[in-house]
Amino acid sequence: KERTFIAVKPDGVQRGLIGEIIKRFEARGYKLVAGKLLWASKDHLRNHYKDLADKPFFNGLVDYMSSGPLFAMVWEGKEVVKMGRQMLGATNPLASMPGTIRGDYGIDVGRNICHGSDAVETANREIALWFKPEELSDYEYANKPWIYE
Ligand code: GTP
Ligand code: MG
Repeated sequence: KERTFIAVKPDGVQRGLIGEIIKRFEARGYKLVAGKLLWASKDHLRNHYKDLADKPFFNGLVDYMSSGPLFAMVWEGKEVVKMGRQMLGATNPLASMPGTIRGDYGIDVGRNICHGSDAVETANREIALWFKPEELSDYEYANKPWIYE
């Protein structure tokens, strides 16, 4: 049961793209197991992006991510971590193919609309960081046999 952490970043929220991003994951056949709008603290974001702490853009990244509320989600399904990254596109929107979220809606790397976990272990860490266990709903999609063979 693979899960990934996806977050519509503050620019995506301000630009009215929450529904668009949910729509793409739903339409693909992935299952939403948690979602909430929250204004994350700088400390929380420093922890979330701790592997990037020595990058020159780290403080700017934390400022950007704490500049307004973001929409945090957990999505579940086959290979959802890798597919989620494909649906997002490259880190830099200018390098993202049209048809991807960043390739359709972004221009600058520091305003790239949406976050997605980069590996299964990262996803598990991020889900635990952003959600309490009781915020995750375990349920079956009635249309599961129409999505999976
Ligand atoms: P996330 O899904 O947000 O984790 O993006 P990513 O996995 O595609 O990239 P990475 O984890 O390496 O970087 C995290 C975020 O930092 C990116 O999404 C960008 O918003 C920002 N970032 C990465 N590289 C640069 C950079 O060179 N300049 C600036 N200004 N921001 C960057
Ligand atoms: Mg990343």
